[in-house]
Amino acid sequence: MRQTVVSVSPFAISHNTRNFYRTIDFIPERWLLPEDLHQVVSGLTVVEANEIRNAFTRCLAVDQRAAWQPFSTGPRNCAGMALAWAEIRYTLAAMVLSFDLQIPHEARDFSWSAQKTYSTWERKPLMMSCGQRKELPTF
Ligand code: HEM
Repeated sequence: MRQTVVSVSPFAISHNTRNFYRTIDFIPERWLLPEDLHQVVSGLTVVEANEIRNAFTRCLAVDQRAAWQPFSTGPRNCAGMALAWAEIRYTLAAMVLSFDLQIPHEARDFSWSAQKTYSTWERKPLMMSCGQRKELPTF
């Protein structure tokens, strides 16, 4: 039907097992480029390197990377995407360089899906009539 808006939540896309392997698990290796894998595993023990290679191979077979579009796509996608990426990379690099990060024991059972989500507020136009001031205000 013409002028029908179709949308899907990024959360639903990311958690659909047709799009991603082990959707709720933290597997950062899934975003590696095949040509970067060698560099990432160099210096690791054989066991650690195999773990990363296995995770990468499984994700490569299942993951639809193009399904992940947090900035949306098309002519009205996020105008600030490049700035956002620069900020994210800078912040993450600064954090990793400055801190040793660990999840404390009491936070181990943290659940991403047990969080609340809120909608945004669509404001209606505020009509206003503007006439030129006859006198300037004195303060
Ligand atoms: C992680 C950070 C960000 C994410 C995930 C994000 C995501 C999005 C998404 C999903 C849209 C809607 C696209 C649509 O309607 O289909 C959007 C629009 C927009 N974003 Fe972002 N955004 C981020 C950061 C920023 C920043 C830092 C700026 C500006 C400095 C920005 C400026 C805009 C603007 C101007 C639009 C409207 C574009 C238009 O309607 O043509 N965004 N963003």
